[in-house]
Amino acid sequence: MKLAPSILSCNFSNVAKAVSQVDELGLEYLHLDVMDGSFVPEITFGAKLIKDIRRNTNITFDVHLMVERPEDKLDAFIEAGSDIITVHQESTIHLHRVLQKIKSAGIKCGVSIVPSTPVSMILPILDMVDLVLIMTVNPGYGGQKLIQSCLDKVVELRDIREKEDYTYLISVDGGVNLSTVQDVATAGADLAVTGSAFFLSEDKAEFVNKMNDLIRK
Ligand code: DX5
Ligand code: ZN
Repeated sequence: MKLAPSILSCNFSNVAKAVSQVDELGLEYLHLDVMDGSFVPEITFGAKLIKDIRRNTNITFDVHLMVERPEDKLDAFIEAGSDIITVHQESTIHLHRVLQKIKSAGIKCGVSIVPSTPVSMILPILDMVDLVLIMTVNPGYGGQKLIQSCLDKVVELRDIREKEDYTYLISVDGGVNLSTVQDVATAGADLAVTGSAFFLSEDKAEFVNKMNDLIRK
């Protein structure tokens, strides 16, 4: 399982520093939480910021859109240099169309579900996604406690992937830290987003080493 730090919990007055901290650790993914103040209460940043930080790094941009009607906003995020764009099942009626649009732009597409949404809601589109993002907190804020029961969905998605020969990665987002990372890895996630635990660590290299040790146990 790989770690994908989220800049949500970094100091927004120095995003460039946060990105280079992740880059320097040799991590493969950077998770970018876009919030619109409607789908979730907070507002974070949009495509402009993603486009600007794209100039400084080749890291894989894992863009998590927590926005209403993502179909209206996709173009800017595609153009900004996203590598993976994940949209919420709950945010659009036309999920299939949105995913198709992302794919046709040559970008990997992902689908996410909040804690109250069952895996059955995304069964019809699992054959077309590159990533499934399981929210283990209610989206909107960093620093929340992982809802343990959501990890059952990871197991469920692994079983479906094996049975149907699908290829998506399973990512877990919310409350992943030194106390919970082992459970997330045991459930079978391929990726784990880490926001506050990463950015509140004084020594980020040490934090990543400790997390990786726990993942391997
Ligand atoms: C929450 C975001 C997460 C957030 C996770 O809505 O989608 O990506 O950054 O933060 P932590 O790791 O602090 O729970
Ligand atoms: Zn996220």
